[in-house]
Amino acid sequence: MRRVVFNQKGGVGKTSITCNLAAISAAMGLRTLVIDLDVQGNTTHYLVGEIDAEAYPAEAQGVAALFKQTVGSRRMAANPDAFVWETPYENLYLMPSSPILTAMEKELESRYKIYKLRDALDKLDEEYDRIYIDTPPNFNFYSKSALIAAQSLVIPFDCDSFARQSLYSLMDNIVELQEDHNPDLAVEGIVINQFNSQARLPGELVAELQEEGLPIFDTYLSASVKMRESHRDHRPLIDLAPSHKLTAQFLALHEELEANVKRLKR
Ligand SMILES: Nc1ncnc2c1ncn2[C@@H]1O[C@H](COP(=O)(O)OP(=O)(O)O)[C@@H](O)[C@H]1O
Ligand SMILES: [Mg+2]
Repeated sequence: MRRVVFNQKGGVGKTSITCNLAAISAAMGLRTLVIDLDVQGNTTHYLVGEIDAEAYPAEAQGVAALFKQTVGSRRMAANPDAFVWETPYENLYLMPSSPILTAMEKELESRYKIYKLRDALDKLDEEYDRIYIDTPPNFNFYSKSALIAAQSLVIPFDCDSFARQSLYSLMDNIVELQEDHNPDLAVEGIVINQFNSQARLPGELVAELQEEGLPIFDTYLSASVKMRESHRDHRPLIDLAPSHKLTAQFLALHEELEANVKRLKR
């Protein structure tokens, strides 16, 4: 089961949501792989901390190495599992980002490697029960590759009015991508993140989106400083603060996702 977490708006919670859902999935005993397609590498940093650049040069890091071997003579030699790293957490695995993803993008795009991630993940389906893909805040080669490779799309939404406009353009892009590349991609739902129930505007905004028929998960995520602490300490919430309110919300959201698995898996 492959999920992509995407919104082309930055700072909406893609990385936080990807990592925390995946960490819960792993804690529940599911072999879980996180793929970090954002050149900023926030997910990589969150889950494994600083990478030793001497031991792992940029071109040897996870996603970059995977795409590298699709170009030229080293075509798809290694099993994609060779690019997966362990994390400090049981059952949780990571295909890390790399600082050279931006430099590689033009070549991959011009050589039409947009289906290569999907092909690689086809080979990993046996190895992992759940795959969560974190994306950059752009509709670029990497996020498109992820949307083509995934069965489900989870969209983080941060409740400001600019977010709404970007949500509509996101939906347009998704419809086009479904038509052109991946008719099986389901828009599983929108995650309301950093929801403030005290303020009037966020509630109204969410109600309007619901009236427009957009799929919104029942569980809303609150804003909490625990999230920042969790990033700083490289410890997902389920590990850092298992009984915190925000962790409970993530557990509830994860339960909603798990309830959908049978339907989405085909
Ligand atoms: N529920 C939350 N409560 C508090 N801070 C949050 C929450 N979700 C995300 N953040 C913070 O917002 C910032 C952006 O989140 P991030 O997950 O990196 O978004 P994206 O990956 O979409 O850019 C980070 O500093 C993160 O710690
Ligand atoms: Mg991010």
